[in-house]
Amino acid sequence: MKKLKPKEIEDIRRAAELLFLSKNAIVLSGAGISTESGIPDFRGDSGIWEKYKPEIYGNIQSFLTDPSKFWKMAEDIAPTLFSAEPNPGHYAIADLEKMNIVKAVITQNIDQLHQKAGSIIVYEVHGNINRFTCLGCRASYNKEQILRKLKKEKKQVPGCNYCGAPLKPSVVLFGENLPNFEKYMSIDLAKKSDLMLIAGSSLEVAPICDLPLYTLSEGGKLIIVNDEPTGLDKRAEIVLNNKTGTILPLIVEQIKKMIVEDELKN
Ligand code: APR
Repeated sequence: MKKLKPKEIEDIRRAAELLFLSKNAIVLSGAGISTESGIPDFRGDSGIWEKYKPEIYGNIQSFLTDPSKFWKMAEDIAPTLFSAEPNPGHYAIADLEKMNIVKAVITQNIDQLHQKAGSIIVYEVHGNINRFTCLGCRASYNKEQILRKLKKEKKQVPGCNYCGAPLKPSVVLFGENLPNFEKYMSIDLAKKSDLMLIAGSSLEVAPICDLPLYTLSEGGKLIIVNDEPTGLDKRAEIVLNNKTGTILPLIVEQIKKMIVEDELKN
């Protein structure tokens, strides 16, 4: 763990105070919150897109032309993805929901680690890896069925049992629309939020990277915890360039102290 600088310690206290006093705080998380669970992010050092070009491996047109490329990348990443466990960053966010401070988590991640850590109100704007759909007849398979199928058939591209068309995980690829409910719910939440805690996202992918702008336009504030600078740092109240697994639990610890002090006063 990187030693915290005095300014970081002060910023952690300030972030805790903003969250403690907030009325409608939400979290926007990205792949960076899951790297400490062993899942690579996309654009950080040794990110997925360093190894697999997104226009070939993460794009719907490319998938429809030749699904084997996507499935080759999936084969490489799936074992890590399926065996990953939440890390202290996920648990800290689940604690903030239990403390009725965070009202919802909007996540770009497909790994379901927020839910595994105990978060309940989670909007997966890029889908998740729990369902696989047939592009031909829309038959739907769960993760266990696909893993059994891949093991038994030894085919790189699993085909539908009913019509033989290729199967695709229910994740949003470049060139695809986001699920409507999650997309419009996230915009509504961002507009109504007085504080958005952004954890582990480069904020480079639309339309989700615009969500913080809705919060700002309605007078809300941003806290960014990311180990690299982002394009919105200048508009954030607080920026902590450090690991989410380090910073978020320390923020929760500070809030718990504030709650005790508040109870002692009243
Ligand atoms: N703590 C804090 N920040 C971290 C950590 C960590 N432990 N690990 C990585 N980061 C930072 C990286 O430096 C990077 O800035 O998290 C950020 C992750 O950014 P991306 O890899 O771009 O991930 P994300 O913002 O979620 O990407 C959005 O792009 O490719 C699509 O669909 C994909 O959902 C993804 C979307």
